[in-house]
Amino acid sequence: MIKLSPSLLAADPLHLGDALKLTLDAGCEELHFDVMDAHFVPNLTFGPHILAGMKKQADFCYDVHLMLTDPITMIDTYAKAGAQVITVHVEANGFEESLCRIRELGLKAGASINPATPAEALRPYLHLIDRVLLMTVVPGFGGQKFMPEALLKAKELREMGFTGEIEADGGVSPANMRETVDAGVDILVMGTAFFKAEDPYEVARQVHAL
Ligand code: DX5
Ligand code: ZN
Repeated sequence: MIKLSPSLLAADPLHLGDALKLTLDAGCEELHFDVMDAHFVPNLTFGPHILAGMKKQADFCYDVHLMLTDPITMIDTYAKAGAQVITVHVEANGFEESLCRIRELGLKAGASINPATPAEALRPYLHLIDRVLLMTVVPGFGGQKFMPEALLKAKELREMGFTGEIEADGGVSPANMRETVDAGVDILVMGTAFFKAEDPYEVARQVHAL
């Protein structure tokens, strides 16, 4: 079954607990937790204390997407706060070391790749990667336009022999989810399309019917 990972970035910032409850009630498999450092991307979001608060509320799969220049400095902190998956960017510093540390902590290691970076950049590290996060927008902000050409990387990764999960992030919505899944994606991140939907339950139902 295709998994849905709503992105907390699009939730009402004064009601993050309600966003977690909605994610659980709608039967989503994960919650996507975007961490930005105002350096790797020009924006700043949530810290580990928010994740720890959520983890205390619900023992769930928190999908932590680190958009940090030096992710290695924060991996242990987010692991302790309750992450189950930690994803780091191939464009960031210390990529290999970060993947190894995430796995050493017993978590799933995700590798994210920006639209402008070729899939080939991941080839030397595939044995260390549990999940690839294909960016379908330039990271930094929610609510951007979906870039379908990024999906071609799913096929390229399979041709390289990658057998782990593939996740798409950025501008994913009911309007493009069919082509996203047909391209070989297993997990859909949806910020705006889920939290700002008139009926998020219906969005989750549609994803699970794919
Ligand atoms: C972008 C983030 C995405 C974003 C997705 O930098 O990594 O997770 O929140 O939001 P939407 O679905 O609104 O594009
Ligand atoms: Zn993200």
